[in-house]
Amino acid sequence: MKTPLRILGALGATLLLASSTFAQAPKRPKIVILATGGTIAGAALSPTDPGYKSGAVGVDILINAVPDLKKIADVTGEQIASIGSQDMNDEVWLKLAKRANELLASPNVDGIAITHGTDTLEETSYFLDLVVKSDKPVVLTGSMRPSTAMSADGPLNIYNAVAIAADPKARGRGVLVAVDDDIHSAHDIVKTHTTDVATFSSGEAGLIGVALFGANIWYRTPAAIHTRASELSVGDGKSLPRVDIIYAHANMSPDLITAAAQNGAKGLVIAGVGDGNMTAPALEAVKKVIKQGVVVVRSSRTNGGIIRRNIEVNDDQVGTVASMELNPGKARALLQLALLKSSDAKKIQDYFDRY
Ligand code: DGL
Repeated sequence: MKTPLRILGALGATLLLASSTFAQAPKRPKIVILATGGTIAGAALSPTDPGYKSGAVGVDILINAVPDLKKIADVTGEQIASIGSQDMNDEVWLKLAKRANELLASPNVDGIAITHGTDTLEETSYFLDLVVKSDKPVVLTGSMRPSTAMSADGPLNIYNAVAIAADPKARGRGVLVAVDDDIHSAHDIVKTHTTDVATFSSGEAGLIGVALFGANIWYRTPAAIHTRASELSVGDGKSLPRVDIIYAHANMSPDLITAAAQNGAKGLVIAGVGDGNMTAPALEAVKKVIKQGVVVVRSSRTNGGIIRRNIEVNDDQVGTVASMELNPGKARALLQLALLKSSDAKKIQDYFDRY
């Protein structure tokens, strides 16, 4: 007996609907890009002009310049600042931390990417590593060539940063930095060269992974405490204690150490020569400002190695804190947040030993 055509037609339509429902594209992760400026948003007069204005291009233009983002995530952008990162400041840090934590707390956001200048990228990423209260991916990126340059490195860095932020395997690895196909930990990344696209290094700690056109290969998770496990925070979020960095050198005078304390610094980081050392007159000035209540951390102007206690400077006698793996810029970020909790050098040394 022949089945009436109308039943076959209804059956076909039902099967088509069912297959299209089941075959629906998987829901793309929701990623928000927070833009702060930098060379990645820089604009020059021509593709080969070495001079450029940092932070000239807005976040929507950056997103539209990477159309393949749509294939990997549902991306929206917010402009937090439009500055060269040499002008990065506590106000932008606090605004960035507040907005990141608000977004990450939303069930509708799966991760965040942040575009930033490379000059202070290592400082901002580490600051966020200490105050972001989520396991969701937070991935910073920047570029060494402006958006208008021939062979600009920004678009692929943005694509990789979003691909990492959208990757469930990125969760719980702390704040990350995606540059030049590499995935760095915020704790370890440092800028090592003024112009080279391959300027960033994670030194003896090594990479967290590599990003290959959106395919992420993972090597490790950071050893230090970060993000949700961090007991540090921005406090009331209104301000951060003033911490200055003073560069050590041959014949270093005590004057800048004294002046920093007179100008209201609550903490000092000495970018010491070698293993965090300085001249005898400078060390005497350190002892004086410590007696005035300033907390002083010994870091190093070298970009490698670990500054431990009581090697050449007797920290127990002088009252200084040793920065361990942290370079001066990162040591400053940790000291600012630690000073919101305590000004006791022993307690602050404990933070440097664990973060
Ligand atoms: N003005 C510098 C900055 O914004 C340029 C370096 C860069 O972003 O690559 O950090």
